[in-house]
Order: sequence, then structure tokens, then C-alpha cells
Amino acid sequence: MIEAVHTTGREPSSPSIPRPTPPPDGNAAPRRVKADLTGVPETALWTLQHRAAEAARPDTVLPDPRAVQLMAELDFPFLERLGAPRPWLAQAIALRALAFDGVVREFLADHPDGTVVALGEGLETQFWRVDNGRAHWVTVDLPDPLALRKRVLPHGPRQRLLACDARERRWTAQIDAARGVLVTAQGLLMYLEPAQATRLIGVCAEAFPGGTMVFDTVSRRFSARTRGGTKGLGGHRLPPMPWGMDAAERTELRTAHPAIGEVSGVPLPAGRGLLGRLAPRLTDLPLLRNDCPLLTRLRFGPAPPSCPAGPDDRPEPGGLTLPNLLAHKGVAPHHTTTRCGAGQVRRPAHSPRADPRTAHTGRRDRLSPRAPAGDRVRCGRRPPPAGRWPPAGIRRR
Ligand SMILES: C[S@@+](CC[C@H](N)C(=O)[O-])C[C@H]1O[C@@H](n2cnc3c(N)ncnc32)[C@H](O)[C@@H]1O
Repeated sequence: MIEAVHTTGREPSSPSIPRPTPPPDGNAAPRRVKADLTGVPETALWTLQHRAAEAARPDTVLPDPRAVQLMAELDFPFLERLGAPRPWLAQAIALRALAFDGVVREFLADHPDGTVVALGEGLETQFWRVDNGRAHWVTVDLPDPLALRKRVLPHGPRQRLLACDARERRWTAQIDAARGVLVTAQGLLMYLEPAQATRLIGVCAEAFPGGTMVFDTVSRRFSARTRGGTKGLGGHRLPPMPWGMDAAERTELRTAHPAIGEVSGVPLPAGRGLLGRLAPRLTDLPLLRNDCPLLTRLRFGPAPPSCPAGPDDRPEPGGLTLPNLLAHKGVAPHHTTTRCGAGQVRRPAHSPRADPRTAHTGRRDRLSPRAPAGDRVRCGRRPPPAGRWPPAGIRRR
């Protein structure tokens, strides 16, 4: 059940930073808010810790006083649970945030009243870094991290909080797409199973024609290490990151849904020192090319005309669905529907993929290693006509 848990009436773009609430007994020390997150939601505290560490530096690449303030307000054993942040990693996390900021600012320049949907936003303070005073902002996260976010950040009338698993389609019905939509997923998709991640991408493509999505991924090798139980630099166990993707596989993301018109890489901005100088060119470096995190932007074209209502809302395959009816009449539907975990995944009717978990290539857990390399693929905005899938240029297996 989607639950809108917003709101306070405070104007969020106010430059002043809220101070922690003083305790009613008049003690001088402000009361801190207990952060009781574990598992994947706890990673929101890790990323906050790193952004705040970077933001606290005088030569920071990411000015973010609200993140620094938020760290001070949280009651959480950061050092025991997550270790001390390494400066280079703090900068890397901040550069990732800065790259997302760039995409959001670009979107808001074109759509000043548009809606930014931040999936798995955790305790990210991006809104206060990029707000233009007109944007609409929707945070989608699991109930516990969302409740914590609501307690510690001052959400205003242009912000909404939706407690919902991003893998469920229902949150899309809550989004006002009239003035343009940008979906961001910073630090989220790697925690999903590959088929869940590509299904989420497909759901966004279908729900927001003309919209944009930006997300980051870890490499296939890093994903394998986390699945093997590797520890983070702070000595804490990293939650498994089931979905990894290498740069050479990026173009195949287009096969997640026919409405995906353009797939492009978003480089990290330059930062401080050697790492900072290398950051924008990580994917050009032969040794790192296929072992570095990636940022990817997808632009969605118009919805395919033959797409019926969303897969979550339809009866079992074999029932009275539009694809089944069309098939009965001998008309090729644009999509078929197959079961995938808790929901269903929709794929092109003529896709060679038999198993929904092989969302791209027919393999269970990976995209094709032989996919063409390259950061930017313009594939045209129009989805291919029904009956011609995959389109020319996308290889069948
Ligand atoms: C690594 S944190 C990233 C937080 C924030 N985006 C950032 O960059 O600081 C992962 C976030 O994804 C959220 N999350 C994990 N699985 C989710 C799901 N299925 N649906 C919605 N949010 C999810 C977690 O609660 C957490 O807030």
C-alpha cells in the first residue's frame, strides 16, 4: 500500500538550516534522533556519512551544509558500525552525488516545474542543493528509512514522501507527470536482482513517456565480490549487490523496454587531486574500463501504442488480457507477460528471451559481454513497430 507520509508546511528552499530540537527540560545539548536502520537501508547512513565528511572540508567538491548538520543530529554509532570514512572514498561518493545533481539541474533548466522522483533517496539532501524554488520532488523509499528522513529533514509543500518498495509499480500512479518527470536512483539498483532492476527500468519507461531516468551501477566484478560477502573499507559487511553491469553492456539496457529511446553515460565531474582529475575519464582507462561504477541516463520516448495497462494490474497469463486476446485473434501483441518474483515482467512479444530473469541476453545474470562498447547510443525516440523486435542493430540471441 502506498502511503503518502508528507508533510510539514515549511518552505524547503529556505537557506537556513534547522537546528536540532532542544530538549524540553532546558538542557543545553540538543536532542539527537536515533537512527535505527540495518541491512540495505543502513547504507543510506553510509553514503550520508561520506558526503558529509567531504562537505565538511574547506576545499570540498560538494558544498552541502545540510548533510553536515544532519550527521550531527543523528544518534547512530557511525564509527563502530561503518568505520571512519576514507577521504578518497568520501570524495568519490560526493562526485557521484554531484553528477546526479548535474542531471537534475539540466532537467530543471528544461522543466522548471517538473517532478523529480528520487527512488531510494534515503538521507540524501540533494533537494536542498539543487532546488529552483519551483520543482516538485517525490521521495520513494522503504518505510523505516522514509520515517527517519521525515523526522530529520524539513520537507515542504513541494515535496512528497512515498513509503513504497520501488520495485512495485504502484508508486508510479502517484506521480504527476504533466510538467515532465526525471526519475533518479542513486545507490539503489545494485541492491536489486538483475531482473528486478531491468523491470523497474521498464516500468519507468512505460509510466513516463518523454521522461528521463538516471541511475548508477556497480561493475559485474564488484557485484560478485559483494555476493561473496566482502567487507567494506570500514570493516563492515557490505550488503550483497546482485546487479552489476560493465560499460560494454550498457547499450543493451535499451532492450528493457521499447520506449527507451536513448542510452547514454554520465561522466563524473572532475574533483580534487589525482583521483579527482581521473574521475571524468574512469571508463576510458583500459584497466578500469570494465571494473568501475557507471552512471547511466535513459530517455524515454512515447509509449508504444499497443501497450495495455500495467502488468501489476492484469490477471494471470492466459486470462483475459489484451495480449492474450490479440494472440487469439492472430494479432501479434507488442508485449507478453511473464511472472517474475512478486510481480510480472513484460517483454516484447518477439523477444528471444525465454526467462524473465535474463532480461537482456538470454543469460541468467548478465548482459552480453559482446555488446558494442561506447557511452552514447542514440537510437531514435520512436519505439519500433509491433512485430519488429528487437529493432535492427539490437542483436538477437
Ligand atoms: C545506498 S542507499 C542510497 C541512499 C541515497 N540515494 C544516497 O545516495 O545517499 C540505498 C537506499 O535505497 C533504499 N532502498 C533499498 N531497497 C529499496 C526498495 N526496494 N525500494 C525503495 N527503496 C529502497 C534504502 O532504504 C536506502 O535508502
